[in-house]
Amino acid sequence: MTARHRIAVIAGDGIGQEVVPAAVRCLDAVAERHDIAFDWHHLDWGSDHYRAHGRMMPVDGLDILAGHDAIFLGAVGVPDIPDVHTLWGLLIPIRRAFAQYINLRPVRTLPGVPSPVFSRDPIDLVIVRENNEGEYSEVGGRVYQGSADEIAIQESVFTRRGVERVARYAAALAAGRRGHLTSATKSNGIVHTMPFWDEVVRDVLADFPDVTARQELVDALAASLVLHPERYDVIVASNLFGDILSDLAGAVAGSIGCAPSANLNPPGEHPSMFEPVHGSAPDIAGQGIANPIGQIWSGAMMLDALGHAAAAAQLITAFEAALASGTRTRDIGGTATTAEVAAAVVAHLGPS
Ligand code: NAI
Ligand code: MG
Repeated sequence: MTARHRIAVIAGDGIGQEVVPAAVRCLDAVAERHDIAFDWHHLDWGSDHYRAHGRMMPVDGLDILAGHDAIFLGAVGVPDIPDVHTLWGLLIPIRRAFAQYINLRPVRTLPGVPSPVFSRDPIDLVIVRENNEGEYSEVGGRVYQGSADEIAIQESVFTRRGVERVARYAAALAAGRRGHLTSATKSNGIVHTMPFWDEVVRDVLADFPDVTARQELVDALAASLVLHPERYDVIVASNLFGDILSDLAGAVAGSIGCAPSANLNPPGEHPSMFEPVHGSAPDIAGQGIANPIGQIWSGAMMLDALGHAAAAAQLITAFEAALASGTRTRDIGGTATTAEVAAAVVAHLGPS
């Protein structure tokens, strides 16, 4: 029997409009080979919607999304509208309303994709980023705006429940992989929230005797990720640290254009959201040269989360084969267009 999934698609801004159609094409092709049918519900939300209506999505946008099995997002953000309207008008409300508290960001060496940094051994790590609280909070404000006495205050929010669930998720993930967990901290400089983070992570680890855990100060960890990325297995990090480390690790593995992510609601009470790590890349938007691998890989993560592990694996094998055969975009040393990469991925899926 065909498995049907209703997916909300928000291509959004900039290269989102290019990489999302490329990935949808690949997902339809792999779905056909596994008796899966996607009902794509395309939503024209984003900065054009903001310019026309003063909002990134309709007032009932979250209610509309709630009726879907998953959300497939490109990116939002344009140079002429402050990110506080675009990201906080769409991306962040979705992550929070649907309790997508795990942001899973795998980073791997891909065939044919050179790392700009020397590494003898392949990289195979996963960053588990806390996705609902931490440093990204709207608690705070500005006083005496525009004057010489102006003050800006921004509070971080760390809850025991929030830290515990991300630590537990990351430790369980590490237990099923190579058994190493690195916790990104900064308890030498941030003296309230980070020691709290360390304590809660340590408490959780008591339940995972087979996981070898280390905590590393995030500045040293950043340097170490450049020099020895192959040493890492699972990294658990707060919202801000995880955000920064995942762009860094993605670039070390070849390009941020290849980096995927899943915003997960682990209990499955709400839809999860799948999107590449990168943003709308206004510097290359409209040229048809954006790397679609991050978006396609995010699609594979969506297949996996929807219970189609075999289809997910086939899609990953196909894009690895396409990359290995030399079909690569400019950011990873090739000349192919976004559409040519998608076509090569479909070709490497083999006969339907
Ligand atoms: P960005 O990730 O859009 O671009 C950074 C650099 O990487 C640029 O040079 C870009 O050309 C390159 N790049 C990114 N994705 C690529 C791809 N698929 N193929 C080839 N090259 C790629 O980050 P930036 O420039 O800091 O942000 C641009 C806008 O996107 C901002 O408004 C930002 O707030 C927003 N943003 C949105 C995100 C989201 O929707 N989830 C995430 C990150 C940024
Ligand atoms: Mg980011």
